[in-house]
Amino acid sequence: MVVFITIMMMLFSSVIFSETAEEEPRFFCGTVDTITEEQRAGRKLFNANCASCHKLDKDDMTGPALRGVKFDSLSLHEYLSSKKHQPTFPQLSIEQINEILKYTKD
Ligand code: HEC
Repeated sequence: MVVFITIMMMLFSSVIFSETAEEEPRFFCGTVDTITEEQRAGRKLFNANCASCHKLDKDDMTGPALRGVKFDSLSLHEYLSSKKHQPTFPQLSIEQINEILKYTKD
């Protein structure tokens, strides 16, 4: 179990740290990182704003798993700006919410 967690942490840290560099298509052990620019921006926003309470697939967090969540950018912007969701995120633009949704769609 400890070994498994260590391996997962190494995998995830490579994903997170790869965010800091800003070059074109990346190669991990011979495979291409195929996510789009939009999804990459969404992942960054998601990690910065949402990941403390939400993961894509893990449901035992503060908030529910968000993969394939049924919102469009307009309704999610409204929802996240309203008191129905705490904390609120009125500062995220519809464009940014759209990027987050591109990242969470399956
Ligand atoms: C401090 C914790 C916290 C943060 C940070 C947070 N959320 Fe939430 N979120 C929750 C909780 C708790 C719920 C469940 C609320 C409920 O059911 O009434 C929720 C619900 C949601 C839902 C509804 C899920 C569904 O299936 O109905 C969406 C979508 C969502 N959050 C998106 C986001 C996004 C996008 C961000 C980042 C911009 C974010 N949340 C940041 C705690 C958080």
